[in-house]
Amino acid sequence: MHTKRLDTSPAAIAMAGELLRRGELVAFPTETVYGLGGHALDERAVAAIFTAKGRPANDPLIVHITAATDLPLVAATVPPLAGRLAAACWPGPLTLIVPRHPRVPLTVTAGRETVAVRVPSHPIAQELLRAAGVPVAAPSANRFGHTSPTTADHVLADLDGRIAAVIDGGATPIGIESTVLDCTTDPPTLLRPGGISLETLTDLIGEVQLRSQPTADEAHGLTAPGLLERHYAPDHELWLFSGKPDSVLARLRAETEAALARGLRVGLLLPEEDLALMHDLPVERESLGPTSDPAIIARRLYAALRALDERQPDRMFTRDLDEAGLGRALRDRLRRAATRVIVVDEETGKQ
Ligand code: TXA
Ligand code: MG
Repeated sequence: MHTKRLDTSPAAIAMAGELLRRGELVAFPTETVYGLGGHALDERAVAAIFTAKGRPANDPLIVHITAATDLPLVAATVPPLAGRLAAACWPGPLTLIVPRHPRVPLTVTAGRETVAVRVPSHPIAQELLRAAGVPVAAPSANRFGHTSPTTADHVLADLDGRIAAVIDGGATPIGIESTVLDCTTDPPTLLRPGGISLETLTDLIGEVQLRSQPTADEAHGLTAPGLLERHYAPDHELWLFSGKPDSVLARLRAETEAALARGLRVGLLLPEEDLALMHDLPVERESLGPTSDPAIIARRLYAALRALDERQPDRMFTRDLDEAGLGRALRDRLRRAATRVIVVDEETGKQ
C-alpha cells in the first residue's frame, strides 16, 4: 500500500475524513503526538490499527470525539467527575476512562467494560473528526514499543506502506501523550501522567489516586502493555542517571569518559545547561532545552531521542528531571525509554 502524505487543505482533510469513514487508516496530528486513526465503531478498521502498529490485542485504544457532547455516543454513563473534567479540560490532553457503551467494539477496549475517550484540541484533529463524522480510535502512530511520533516524518519512518495516509500538520505542540485518568474508581486513578499535570487535576477534583496499587483490571489479569515498563524505547542503549543534579552530572561525566576511553561512541540527551558543562567531551549530543521550561523539553523529547538514536551511539546517557508539573510525565517517559536506571548517591557522585 502506498501511504499518501496529505496537506492540511480543506480538500485534503475532506478526503482523509472519507478514508476514515470507509474503514481506512489515517495518521493525523493532535496537540500531544500523532495518532493512527481508524473508525472506532468499525471492527475491521480497529483490527487494522492493531495490525499496522504490531500492537498486542490486549492493549486498548483511545477513542477521539469532537466534543464532550458526543461522550454519550461511546460511554454507557458519564460519572459526574468525568463530566466536570471534560467541561474543564476538553478539548485538551486529558483521556478519561469511563464505562463503555455497547456500540463500542470490545476490540477497541481489549475486552474491558471501560473505554478511554478524549477530545483533542489540535485544529487539524478537530477538522478531521468533524469531516469523518464518526468516533476515531487512535493510538500513537508508531510501531508498538517505539518512541511516539511528533512529526509526519516520524510516522512515515514507522508506518510507511502500512496505512492509507498521514496528514502533515508539522510538529505537535505538546510533544508527549495525554494524561490518562480512570474515572471509574473512587477516587479517580492516574494511569499515565501526560499533558495535563496532576496538580491541575487535583485543583479541579481533589484527591487523585496514583497507580501504586494494582488496579481492578490488573487484579483480573488485564494489564495494558502501554502502561508497563520499557515502552517508548529507542533502538540503542539508554542509561538514565537519577539523584541530586550535582552528583548526577559528576557521575555522568565519569561514565562518559570511561566509555570514551574504551572506544565507545556516546550520545548525551540532556538539558542545555548540562550540555554546556560537557562541551569539552567528544560525544554526540541532543539538547532537551532549558530545565526552567518543561514545556520546551516535552516538545523536544521524542524528536531528540530519535535524532540521537539515529546516529547509532553505542550508549546514550540522560538524567532525571524535576517532578513538578509536566516533569512527572517527562520522568515517566525517560524511565520507560531507559534500558538501565542508575541511582547516584552523593558519595558516588563525588568520585
Ligand atoms: O495523547 C494521546 O493520548 C495519543 C493521541 C494520539 O491521542 N494517544 C495515545 O494512545 O497515546 P496510546 O494507545 O499510545 O496510549 C493509550 C493508553 C495506553 O497505555 C492504554 O493501555 C491506555 O491508554 N488505555 C486505553 N484504554 C484503556 C482502558 N479502557 N483502561 C485502561 N487503560 C486504557
Ligand atoms: Mg503509544
